[in-house]
Amino acid sequence: MRHGACREVKVLEVVPLGQSKRPGEFFELRLELPDWEAWRPGQFVMLRPLSWGLELVWGRPFSIASADRGVLCVLFQALGRGTRRLAGLRPGDQVLVWGPLGNGFAVDPGKRTLILAGGMGLAPFRAYVERHPAPDLIRLFFAHRFPLECYPFDYLSGLVDAVRVEERSPGDLALVIDALRAEMAAFDQRGLILACGPTPFLGTVRDRALELGLAERTQLSLEERMACGVGACLGCAVKDAGGGNVQVCSRGPVFWAGDVQLGRG
Ligand SMILES: Cc1cc2nc3c(=O)[nH]c(=O)nc-3n(C[C@H](O)[C@H](O)[C@H](O)COP(=O)(O)OP(=O)(O)OC[C@H]3O[C@@H](n4cnc5c(N)ncnc54)[C@H](O)[C@@H]3O)c2cc1C
Ligand code: FES
Repeated sequence: MRHGACREVKVLEVVPLGQSKRPGEFFELRLELPDWEAWRPGQFVMLRPLSWGLELVWGRPFSIASADRGVLCVLFQALGRGTRRLAGLRPGDQVLVWGPLGNGFAVDPGKRTLILAGGMGLAPFRAYVERHPAPDLIRLFFAHRFPLECYPFDYLSGLVDAVRVEERSPGDLALVIDALRAEMAAFDQRGLILACGPTPFLGTVRDRALELGLAERTQLSLEERMACGVGACLGCAVKDAGGGNVQVCSRGPVFWAGDVQLGRG
């Protein structure tokens, strides 16, 4: 199932999130769920509405936030042309969905799992927590800049042990990094650490994992710009530990911390 299939589905709903301070910036897109045989949290989909025509040639990658009872959900922040146009979709509009793509996060049901999420990096963990056989063994650390209503944090904090740090000004970044490093140092060395977020956030996690000798227990979900999403264009390559190129879409997006360098290949 690594390369998934391409299906045309209908939009069910586009729900704006966190309207209080920044209207319209965050959304939940609900689509008809394609007839997938199986999928894993941490996998992603490439989305391309038919209405993009020739204006936007490539689809855009999004984590699967949930795929259940006939509904595929992705959570997204409207940042550029593609995501702003996704935000303007209406019920019944048609979207090409390639998926499920990529590998997904590891699960170790008998051991503690520490989730480290930055901003929209929280999206894949909604599915991860919902599907985990022992959510009481999960601790979630969440760092964010935008109001909490933009993210599924309140929902997840009802299911797992959760803490959050808000970055209100650029000066708070050091506090976020200290909290992240402390969280990792306090973690049970036998469990799993799973991280998703902006590249500098993942860089801190990777460095700390190497420092603490936890690289073989720490997974990073990388966000690179993608075009084909299925390993055909080399557009998403990063450097692997040996200095070679590795494609994030087909070999990731989830990698063990010691197996990749962060940055472009
Ligand atoms: C595996 C994977 C899962 C993702 N999951 C989510 C998700 O669940 N929710 C979500 O909001 N976003 C997610 N992203 C990021 C999302 O794909 C980009 O925000 C989106 O493609 C931007 O498209 P655009 O046309 O709006 O932006 P563009 O106009 O192409 O660019 C706007 C800005 O976004 C940056 N950008 C573009 N592509 C990416 C990218 N792939 N990663 C990070 N920044 C990018 C650009 O550098 C630029 O600053 C994911 C990315 C990957 C690779
Ligand atoms: S996006 Fe084309 S190879 Fe990864």
